[in-house]
Amino acid sequence: MRTREFGKSGLQTSVIGFGGWPMGRGQYGAFDDQQAIAAAQAAYDGGVTLFDGAAVYGWGYGEELLGKAIKPFRKNIVLVTKGGRRWLKDNPDRTRAAVSDSSPEYLNEGIDESLKRLDVEYIDLFLIHWPDPSRPYEVPMRALEAAKKSGKIRHYGVSNFHTDMLAECLKHGHPVCDQVGYHMFDRRPEAGTFPFVQKNGMGIMAYGSMAHGLLAGAWKPGHTFSEDDWRRNGKNFGLTIWAPENLPANLAVVDQLKKIASDHKKTMAQLAVAWVLADPAVTVALCGAKRPAEIKEDLGGDWVMSGSLRDEINKLVLSEGKGNGKVGDPGPP
Ligand SMILES: NC(=O)c1ccc[n+]([C@@H]2O[C@H](COP(=O)([O-])OP(=O)(O)OC[C@H]3O[C@@H](n4cnc5c(N)ncnc54)[C@H](OP(=O)(O)O)[C@@H]3O)[C@@H](O)[C@H]2O)c1
Repeated sequence: MRTREFGKSGLQTSVIGFGGWPMGRGQYGAFDDQQAIAAAQAAYDGGVTLFDGAAVYGWGYGEELLGKAIKPFRKNIVLVTKGGRRWLKDNPDRTRAAVSDSSPEYLNEGIDESLKRLDVEYIDLFLIHWPDPSRPYEVPMRALEAAKKSGKIRHYGVSNFHTDMLAECLKHGHPVCDQVGYHMFDRRPEAGTFPFVQKNGMGIMAYGSMAHGLLAGAWKPGHTFSEDDWRRNGKNFGLTIWAPENLPANLAVVDQLKKIASDHKKTMAQLAVAWVLADPAVTVALCGAKRPAEIKEDLGGDWVMSGSLRDEINKLVLSEGKGNGKVGDPGPP
């Protein structure tokens, strides 16, 4: 597995990282705990050195499970978690079930809680999960600098931040990365975020490399989601790529992509991951998985895609994809 550095931070990672949201019980459909733990072990055995979780995944359950999964190899990995989101899990409007709070008190409390749930002494990389525009970004930057000095976290970064927010953060702190959604159907960060991050010595941690399942190749026409699956509402961080009106057209695109993948002796998932890694701004592509077989397949996404193949894919998705995010479109709300 290739490795890359988050900008000029000195922090190294495997190019593929393990995504821990699917093991957040109650949010990403059914799964078996032991299978999810085995998936994380398979990722490590396959060369993955970065594991990503968040306090809100499964309202804490995801971190507890991730902590158990990484225990045998904890010292050898970059353990990432995210905080600064208050849980309003009983809110019937699921899109408002968490709200951002980057106050120093809540961030510090969150770091302590995450350390307990993960059962570790430090977090390698702590991210602010979503921006909190209610206070200057100087405030969380100072809090995270202090948390770093205390030894509870080793590095920090942000997630879902736009360039103006990043610029503000960089005046007051040293975030090493921005974790943003990026895949064949979501090219929104290419125009602003990517060049900004590259220019300022930060890295990109890309999430949803397989478009949260659509680009993994297993969905069939009429695909449905269970009650406990966030994908059920048809929205994907401001996009509508699997909303009922767009899914048939996008599955037809996936069929064509599968043919391209097979011409290169790859699976759909491996084509999707390699496409993400082919952008030089990307440090690591996160892959979520609930079963060892899935992540083993996804790790085959560590191959170098030519510029001409990437152009061919982009042309196809741009001309026939529906509800997708185009270069320069505004990022998620
Ligand atoms: N910062 C943020 O706001 C944010 C947002 C989203 C995600 N993330 C992070 O990024 C990670 C990656 O994103 P993601 O997990 O949402 O999406 P993803 O990696 O694009 O897709 C994960 C889903 O794809 C399916 N899958 C994966 N490999 C497969 C295979 N080989 N064959 C068949 N299906 C396969 C599974 O779907 P099924 O469940 O349908 O089987 C799995 O749950 C997350 O786990 C999380 O750590 C961060």
